Amino acid sequence: MDIQQTLSIIKPDAMKSKLSGKIINFIEEKGFSIIAQKKIILVQKQAEAFYSVHNERPFFQELVSFMISGPILVQIIEAKEGVSLYRKIMGSTNPKEAEEGTIRKLYGTDIQCNAVHGSDSLENANIESSFFFNKLEIIS
Ligand code: CMP
Repeated sequence: MDIQQTLSIIKPDAMKSKLSGKIINFIEEKGFSIIAQKKIILVQKQAEAFYSVHNERPFFQELVSFMISGPILVQIIEAKEGVSLYRKIMGSTNPKEAEEGTIRKLYGTDIQCNAVHGSDSLENANIESSFFFNKLEIIS
């Protein structure tokens, strides 16, 4: 099994509710190591660029407004089969449909305020990680 790195974002809703500590603890207990981390506030152009794949979707502007509404915690996390493992422990996009015991079920509110983001493929994990971090900021 391959060790993989993936990009995690603790979103503004979870940050405002002071849930970042609980989510970090959850991620580490599932076997991930955090190899890069920073707290930032995105500006509109950055959020639009990060979510550009969704720019034709009806929820795009709302998503961008939400993602710039406060601080976020961006992380590169690493584990065996890390990309699919993180998707599994995050749960479904909509917290109301998420499996019991997943991050979104425990800490999400609705399909937009869903606590966390995680890359959906190894290719996107690499692209998304380089969007936020340079090599000097990654300690593996
Ligand atoms: P995320 O995993 O960050 O990827 C894209 C985000 O768009 C997703 O989580 C949700 O927060 C948001 N999203 C997806 N579908 C909808 C929707 N129907 N309405 C509002 N936001 C959505």
